[in-house]
Amino acid sequence: MVNIALLGLGTVGSGVVKVLQQNKDNINNKIGTEISLKKVLVKNRDKKRDINLKDSMMTTNPDEILNDDEIDLIVELIGGEQPAYDYIKRAIQSKKSVVTANKLVIARYGPEIHRLADKNRVEISYEGSVAGGLPIIRPLKESLAANRIKEIYGILNGTTNYILTKMTQNQEEFSDVLTQAQKLGYAERDPSSDINGLDAAYKISILASIAFESFIDVESIFVEGIQDIEQVDIELAGELGYVIKLLAIAKEDGDKLDVRVHPAFISKDHPLALVNDIYNAVYLQGDAVGDVMSYGQGAGQMPTASAVVADIIQVARCICEHRPGATLIDSGARADLKKIKDVKNSFYLRIRVNDKPGVMAKVTRVLGDHQVSLASVLQKHRRSAVVPLVLITHPVREEFLMRSISELEKIEDVIEINSVIRVQEEKNPGQNKSTKTEKGE
Ligand code: HSE
Repeated sequence: MVNIALLGLGTVGSGVVKVLQQNKDNINNKIGTEISLKKVLVKNRDKKRDINLKDSMMTTNPDEILNDDEIDLIVELIGGEQPAYDYIKRAIQSKKSVVTANKLVIARYGPEIHRLADKNRVEISYEGSVAGGLPIIRPLKESLAANRIKEIYGILNGTTNYILTKMTQNQEEFSDVLTQAQKLGYAERDPSSDINGLDAAYKISILASIAFESFIDVESIFVEGIQDIEQVDIELAGELGYVIKLLAIAKEDGDKLDVRVHPAFISKDHPLALVNDIYNAVYLQGDAVGDVMSYGQGAGQMPTASAVVADIIQVARCICEHRPGATLIDSGARADLKKIKDVKNSFYLRIRVNDKPGVMAKVTRVLGDHQVSLASVLQKHRRSAVVPLVLITHPVREEFLMRSISELEKIEDVIEINSVIRVQEEKNPGQNKSTKTEKGE
């Protein structure tokens, strides 16, 4: 028998109880022993809940759980930094294994928590912390362990993916779609950390720390949200053969790591372009396996509970086999991140200019002076004195592009630089020829 306790009985906590109850026999068979839910920490015992749980199992006192020697495994589902971080550490120090879905605690304190778990010979597992039900942390640590991971591209935030999808499908503006998403429960009342990209930054820092075996400080990641994306940019992207997605990127670049989150044009042919609505996906390349993609629901009660219960099963097996010991992501190394000014990308620029002879020449001269070369140019006829000019550049260091934009702003006939969006020019699957793909060779 493995005794477990839950810290937190909100949406995900209730989902975990439901999965443990509805799949009880199946789960016990998979472990080879019984999982017994002994206690649950709640804020309010009297709150109405849609689960069947004995009143005597609930407590509002964390000490009743953290000081209970009979509990083998703590499942932390409170979220946020405190008190979750303290409870996780106290549990580990009391020789209890921990399962958590807390991206913030793992992204900020992952190495410290892993070291503590290793020292105390217990497990720490957190599949639910990144992209809910989509399997990616265990695949990275286990199924793909033979590989050197080259690059990861993720759509790791369901709220922003839903908003961008609806802007694309319904030709609506960002603020209108956000209001609808909140009404439908697809966006939080305060969606700021989704919209501004921070949620995805926590998630890519966890994935990159595992993939590249060095701690990625989330504060050092370049992050840009989707709040400035306009309907016209989505339309123009479509005309040019792209869709706009909020991408979380982590890849090797020389002796540094390039880790960032921002909206990006991606080719309509890329598998990530087909990831719509609240769905998440991670697309990665390993040196042996080639291209791999994982797709699924990145949030929500039951998908996240699916990941958390899978961790419970895995950790319970370790406890039964008396072989606890954390899987390290902490090699002691801290990643050297490439600064965004040094990253090379293609860019989409939308500029409003006076429709006069010679304006285009002035614009292209400034760009050329800063080593910005153009891949395509589109001028929309709006029958007015001021017209939108749309440019796609060849790959250029961001520093040069930004300098050229400062200069463009000084040209009298350039009324406004409306949009600057990075274009993800990565090759599509099948074009990565770094590995032989024929089976049986
Ligand atoms: N709010 C997140 C999302 C889920 O929209 O994907 C929790 O990280």
